[in-house]
Amino acid sequence: MQYFMKNLFIGMSNNKTLQTMAQKWGYRIVADQFIAGTNLEDALETVRTLNAKGFSCTVDHLGEFVTEKKVSIQAKEKIIQFIHCINEEQLDCHISLKLTQLGLDISEEFCLHLMKEILDVASKYQIFINIDTEDYVHYHATFRILNELLLDYNYVGTVIQSYYYHAEVLMEQLKDVRLRIVKGAYKESAEVAYQQKDEIDAQFLHLSKKRLKEGPFTSIATHDHHMIRSLLQYIEEENIDKNKVEFQMLYGFREELQEKLKNEGYRFTVYLPYGEDWFGYFMRRLAERPRNMELIIKNQLYENNKLKKKPILLTASTIGVLAFVWRSFKKK
Ligand code: FDA
Repeated sequence: MQYFMKNLFIGMSNNKTLQTMAQKWGYRIVADQFIAGTNLEDALETVRTLNAKGFSCTVDHLGEFVTEKKVSIQAKEKIIQFIHCINEEQLDCHISLKLTQLGLDISEEFCLHLMKEILDVASKYQIFINIDTEDYVHYHATFRILNELLLDYNYVGTVIQSYYYHAEVLMEQLKDVRLRIVKGAYKESAEVAYQQKDEIDAQFLHLSKKRLKEGPFTSIATHDHHMIRSLLQYIEEENIDKNKVEFQMLYGFREELQEKLKNEGYRFTVYLPYGEDWFGYFMRRLAERPRNMELIIKNQLYENNKLKKKPILLTASTIGVLAFVWRSFKKK
């Protein structure tokens, strides 16, 4: 069942019709607990609030798989605008971005050009830019671009997706670069990636420990308390400097655990997605954990454990969206 739900949500994340419909009507119903708003001011306000509570942030202007140059250029402008805001307010915040939003599917040269424009501004302010890693189709192009950028810029890094067989070699090649270690969010074939959860977990722990022991500053990004517990124990046993590591989680997830890690003296960065193009991101979160849908429905029905005033309307809306999503997916 879980496998079926994962495939369903991954399939839906790539469905353009659903995306258009969801962008028009769905945000308030389903997504607002995982997305920090649809515009720059909403996202900035969330960064300010989290900073005031002692959390660092990484902000992702949502969007991916763009095929029109003008859309990629607009995305680049939004990212640069955010970098200026971080600098003006001296926020504790950096940027995460996806190369397919910046035209990787249009041409590598074009994407590289936009990345250089972003990094010119970010480097001036010493603001770090993280290149999020996407599906395997974009794997080689992503690292060609990163390697080009590393010739001229320091404030750029990326993500190691532990499920790839090749992840350890890649991590070694990037040993001096700032890295985030994750399990990997996309559905990949057995030719390139581990498929079993226990294998992926083991690889994630192995790579995280290796990097913590041998590498420079590293971000560990997971919501999995088993992984976190094991890594905390490792950090203590091996006497690893806490300043060499930070934990990261996505906005809206496991807030009590985020707070706990921060209170234990670890740097904690919240990954903050914002923007109109939230559908693919949101569907991948449901694919990772279909139970997130439960949280959303509960959130729609209750406030402070009390039924909201219009539960019937809200339930009907949620069920309606789900039914629509389901029917549209079945047609594909
Ligand atoms: P996983 O989904 O494997 O869950 C393991 C266990 O943890 C569950 O069985 C449950 O017990 C517990 N758990 C998980 N979530 C929970 C929750 N919400 N509440 C309670 N318990 C929960 N991927 C990628 O391919 N490229 C990228 O660039 C990034 N970037 C990125 C940044 C950040 C900050 C994060 C947190 C994640 C990513 N990812 C990513 C996604 C990543 O690859 C992975 O798909 C997700 O983090 C899901 O795996 P986890 O390790 O979080 O737990």
